[in-house]
Amino acid sequence: MSAPAREPWREPPIGLLAELTHRCPLACPYCSNPLELTRRERELPTASWERVLEEAAELGVLQLHLSGGEPTLRSDLEAIVARARALELYSNLITAGVGVSERRLEALAEAGLDHVQLSVQDVDAEGCDRIGGFEGSLARKLAFAKAVRRLGLPLTLNAVVHRHNLDRLERFVELALELGADRLEVAHVQYYGWALANRAALMPTRSQLDRSVAVVKAARERLGDRLLIDFVVPDYYATHPKPCASGWGRAVIVVAPDGRVLPCHAAHVIPGLVFPNVEEKPLRWIWQESPAFQRFRGFDWMQEPCRSCARREIDFGGCRCQAMQLLGDPEATDPACTLSPEHARIMALAEAEAAAPPPAFRYRRLEPVPA
Ligand code: SF4
Ligand code: FES
Repeated sequence: MSAPAREPWREPPIGLLAELTHRCPLACPYCSNPLELTRRERELPTASWERVLEEAAELGVLQLHLSGGEPTLRSDLEAIVARARALELYSNLITAGVGVSERRLEALAEAGLDHVQLSVQDVDAEGCDRIGGFEGSLARKLAFAKAVRRLGLPLTLNAVVHRHNLDRLERFVELALELGADRLEVAHVQYYGWALANRAALMPTRSQLDRSVAVVKAARERLGDRLLIDFVVPDYYATHPKPCASGWGRAVIVVAPDGRVLPCHAAHVIPGLVFPNVEEKPLRWIWQESPAFQRFRGFDWMQEPCRSCARREIDFGGCRCQAMQLLGDPEATDPACTLSPEHARIMALAEAEAAAPPPAFRYRRLEPVPA
């Protein structure tokens, strides 16, 4: 007997993450994009993105995150931003800021862009170039950040931190202040996609992590409202897992460059799920009824210890993709949780990798990855 069909999901997503392209001038080894990147020929055309935004607004989406790869490589970005503005979607540009002229930024602001989130790989030129795999990146980023502020757009500085730049965290805070950023996001690497392939090269030690916690605490106390600091800790050293994507299919909808729709950026690692494409199915149906989005909603799919745990409504059992990647079972408790029987093994693995000399980076590239 087949399982009864589930009720359509009634709550709308808050945010839509539009991965406009996988093309990028940078090659960061912690990129969360899949190892097999989508080529330009397979990217959605402008008209399809505009229709996606209309369907998203109609569904109840409030925020649009324009991401990639590098979204400014799309020459139709102004048109997409203008459509978002017309639909009253709050638009946030997530960019590396290395190839955007002030004129282009002005055009985006005129089209109605609401917010800019700029990634900075390191606080010195050498580190920034080495991590991002792009020469002269820091000077370009600083010029871009100044242009953002000159145009009066709110700015978030995004610092992805790991064993190679973590000891300069105080300087990241100072840089955010110097640039007039409203927010600093200090995000320890999350190990998906290219980051998982580079885990041993990136994993910090426990003492580096502890120090970063202290630096963020001190900066928050010292700066108060002058600078909002968001802090994401690395899963492998966590006590409880993060409520990944605020729970599967609960708050976020991701549209990949080729139009496939996913509940999170890494969901393609889970075998057996079919991700519908916006060229074939309405966004509303995908969100409310598609089997891929229904798969881990609610609590019925959970195993112990999550099934009877009081925190299941806080973290939803953690990350399904991480459970799949590390344990081969997408229904298992995320091993970031101390209640997972696998937690100690995962933590020991992180500690061993962090204690060993770091291997060379495997940079993110568009070419297929050898097996
Ligand atoms: Fe969260 Fe499951 Fe751990 Fe409970 S057992 S804290 S629900 S991951
Ligand atoms: Fe997919 Fe966490 S990245 S559920």
